[in-house]
This record gives sequence, C-alpha cells and structure tokens, in this order.
Amino acid sequence: MRMKVFVIAALAFVSLVSVIDGSEHEAQLSEFVNDALFSSVSSKQPSQPQPLMVPITVINGAAAKGAVCLDGTSPAYHFHPGSGSGANSWLIHLEGGGWCNTIRNCVFRKTTRRGSFKFMEKTLPFTGILSNKPEENPDFFNWNRVKIRYCDGASFAGDSQNEANQLQFRGQKIWLAAIEELMSKGMQKANQALLSGCSAGGLASIIHCDEFGSMFPKSTKVKCLSDAGFFLDAVDVSGGHTLRNMFGGVVTLQEVQKNLPKSCLNQLDPTSCFFPQNLIQHVQTPLFLLNAAYDAWQVQESLAPHSADPSGSWNDCKANHARCNSSQIQFFQDFRNQLLNDVKDFSKSSPTGLFINSCFAHCQSERQDTWFADDSPLINDMPVAIAVGDWFFDRKTIKAIDCAYPCDTTCHNLVFK
Ligand SMILES: *[C@@H]1O[C@H](CO)[C@@H](O)[C@H](O)[C@H]1NC(C)=O
Repeated sequence: MRMKVFVIAALAFVSLVSVIDGSEHEAQLSEFVNDALFSSVSSKQPSQPQPLMVPITVINGAAAKGAVCLDGTSPAYHFHPGSGSGANSWLIHLEGGGWCNTIRNCVFRKTTRRGSFKFMEKTLPFTGILSNKPEENPDFFNWNRVKIRYCDGASFAGDSQNEANQLQFRGQKIWLAAIEELMSKGMQKANQALLSGCSAGGLASIIHCDEFGSMFPKSTKVKCLSDAGFFLDAVDVSGGHTLRNMFGGVVTLQEVQKNLPKSCLNQLDPTSCFFPQNLIQHVQTPLFLLNAAYDAWQVQESLAPHSADPSGSWNDCKANHARCNSSQIQFFQDFRNQLLNDVKDFSKSSPTGLFINSCFAHCQSERQDTWFADDSPLINDMPVAIAVGDWFFDRKTIKAIDCAYPCDTTCHNLVFK
C-alpha cells in the first residue's frame, strides 16, 4: 500500500504545550502550528525544480486609505505577470495564517509576518496553483498570479482599531486597496478571474467572493476557490466550542460584522455568519470548496487543542492519525459527517464544485505535492489541479467526495513529530 507521510518538523510541539500559561504562549504555539502547516515546501521534495521566487510589492497609497497591517505598516502582495493566452486572466490568492482574537495575541502578532510588513519575507516561492510551469500547474501557469499577504488577523474582513494598544484592524480596507491597485494594473480588463485562498485566506475567499464578482462586468468569467477554508462550528473533544469562542473574539474585537452578508446577519448572530456553513448559501458567484475531510488545522486547533485536552490524551493521535484509537477515529468520522451534511445543499447547485478528500491535510492548492505531481492526492483518479481546472473552465461537473478514512491511499497526510 502506498501511504505517504509528510513529517512536519515540529519537534518542540509536545513540550511547548506543557509550559503554556497565557494567551501569548497560545499565540506563539498557534503561530508555530500555522508555520508548520502553511510551509509550502515539504521536507520530502528532493528532486523538485527550483520554484519561481516572486518579490513583494507594497500597496501604493494604502496607508492614506487607512489600509494598514495590525502595526500600521503597509500591506503588500506578490505579483507575477501573465503571458500568452493567460495575459488577460487573473488569479488572486489570499494568504492564510490563523486569526487573532484578543488584544494580547493581536499585540503579539504585530511582531510577526502575520501582523507587520517589517517581518514579511520579501520574496516568496510560487508553487502549486501559483506555479509558472505548465507541468506543475496546467490551467493557471500563464495567468497573472497574485498572492496578497495576510496581516490583519481577521480573514481580510475586520474594520476597527484599538488605540490604547496601537492596533489597527483593517482587513476589509486592505482587501479593497489591493483589489483597487490590481484593477489599475490591468485586472479591470480581465476576461476571467479566480479568487482563491487557503485556510484563513480560504475563509476570506468565501466572505469576499460576491464582492469580487461584482467588481467585474457580467461578461467576465469570475469564480472563487476556498482551500481549507471550511471551518466547522464543531464541538471539541471536551464538549466545548473552542473555535466558536475564538471566532467570537475575532468578530467582536475587529468588528467583522460590518463586512458579513446582511442576508446572513438577518437570520443569525455575527459569529455564526463567520462560519462557512452559514455563509455558502448566501454566495451567488460560483464557488469551489477544496477541503480535507479531517483538516489538519482543525484537528489540532479546533477539535483537540491543549485547552480542551489538558492531560494531552489526544497528543499522539492529533500528531499522527495512525496512532488514533477506534473512538478517536469515530470522533473524526462524526466531524466529517457534519462537514458533508453542511455542504449537501451547496453541492446540489450546478455552478459549485467540491473536492473533499479523506486526508489529514491542510492547504492542498499551494503545495506542489498536493496540487499536481506524479503521486498527488486523487479522488476517482483525479488530482486537485485537474478538478479545479475542469470546474473553472466548465469542462466537467466536479462534486468529488471521497470515501471515509482509511480508504484513500493517495493522501499526503501531515504528521507532526
Ligand atoms: C482512546 O483514547 C482516548 C484518549 O486517550 C481514551 O479516552 C479512550 O478511552 C480510548 N478508547 C479506546 C476504545 O481505547
């Protein structure tokens, strides 16, 4: 059996947990898990060609529009121009990286690349859906491709401030300033456009999908892809609501409700309207959900975080799915069933697309090994890149839902050491 395991160098993970005593440590730990999960370069890619490295661009005049990172510095993006048949096609990819939900962890975030331009890498590798090589990215390689950096801590959707702690919560303004600048750089003439994003950026691509669509004329083909953005309002291993509590903090602190769909807010509280399960029915623009059924971030941070399992009885299982016992696997199956139930109506609508594979993974569009490679994950023999391309170009209907764990032998499951 071909079982690929992708080991994440998270040596300090288990020992860190035992010394956590405050939200700053939680924030650091969370950042650490995020860094591990978002690393687009897997430790097991010896023979990959050198990825395209793309320099950062500061958004002109963003600060004058009040569009700033948590610490007041300018937001930024990485842009690689399209060519040939892709010269008028645009892919806008929103970076992910968790959220900040308290003054304390937002203040901490100002000292990281997720909260300040000062700490951002000034070049980034473009791999997977961002790759410029047709053999790595068959449908989007020659498009104009943009990765917008994430430095607001609320999925590009907050709009408030905290003066006492010199915090700016300007995600919505960053989103608008970035799109405005890209429009002026040629995106206004796009004949097709795809808004994508992973994790917190995948949630942002759902939140901003219709707004993105409305910026183009009707004749432009516009769609959205959410990768690992389907965060469930789920019960954790102690019966609590870890993620709902966290999202509640994000929404309240950053005043995210200002930018959530009114049609949702008429029915539900703002925190509920930050969850994709309650948002997707309000999205009119064609949307594709790419998600691992046992999303590695949600397993780590929503279902079995340290706070819900202080004795650490889930540590082995959450670090490596192969070490889970039968009741733990059942807990994950219930989580998958909740996910499938939440996307049931969505999948019936014809313009939507789905790729829900039964893997312990996170962010499968940005990593080359999961997007498109000789041994990349498959559902019905179809890799992620082909599923997304076929859906975008209306070549096929894609509603790919995998059989339950452990049936899929093509997964690139994340394992934490
Ligand atoms: C599985 O592991 C959990 C956590 O250690 C434990 O509480 C539970 O009793 C175990 N279940 C079985 C069936 O062994």
